[in-house]
Amino acid sequence: MAVQISPSILAADFARLADEAAAVPNADWLHVDVMDYHFVPNLTIGLPVVEALRKATSTPLDCHLMIADPDRWAPQYAEAGAGSVTIHAEAAKGPIRTLREIRALGARAGLALNPATPVEPYEDLLGEVDMLLLMTVEPGFGGQKFLDGVLPKVRRAREMIRRHGGRIWLQVDGGVDAGTIERCADAGADVFVAGSAVYGASDPASAVDALRAAADA
Ligand code: DX5
Ligand code: ZN
Repeated sequence: MAVQISPSILAADFARLADEAAAVPNADWLHVDVMDYHFVPNLTIGLPVVEALRKATSTPLDCHLMIADPDRWAPQYAEAGAGSVTIHAEAAKGPIRTLREIRALGARAGLALNPATPVEPYEDLLGEVDMLLLMTVEPGFGGQKFLDGVLPKVRRAREMIRRHGGRIWLQVDGGVDAGTIERCADAGADVFVAGSAVYGASDPASAVDALRAAADA
């Protein structure tokens, strides 16, 4: 599976989102962090901004829903044109139904786990998902320190995915930068979210290339 880089616009300038999307034409995805002040102690972007971004860029949108009621809202992100919609296992009350709705609307369905949430209980759900997202920081904010302690879980998740035929993407999110991405790739991740490491760089497109090269090494 080829390495994919998904720059998080949480670290971009929210007043210039179209330009910030255009600054990373070499990105595979744009990662959109949706937060609601309930599931996480922060508030960011919602549907109207996703709809506007959809028209402003041809890069597919990777929507990460850090919201308390993903069952209610996730399908609308798929309808708004997101290429991928990821819900948190800790928040979803009917994850199977919601993941199926996302897929039925033509988007890839993702399941996210916080650092302290074990992956093993979700093995039976793998048939319902296109991507597993393992948080490598507590969700809510960009610029936090990478949690090395999640790496063994990344390895176990990769093993589980292998047993299920290997088609599921394994994404890591939080503190991913030039110094940590190799360890994530070694552990089996193949989709890398990076906020500060991309938009904090003077040349975001070169930062994407550098991350891709480091993950491929
Ligand atoms: C955190 C978000 C991340 C965040 C990553 O809750 O899910 O996507 O933007 O930011 P960095 O790469 O700066 O840790
Ligand atoms: Zn995210």
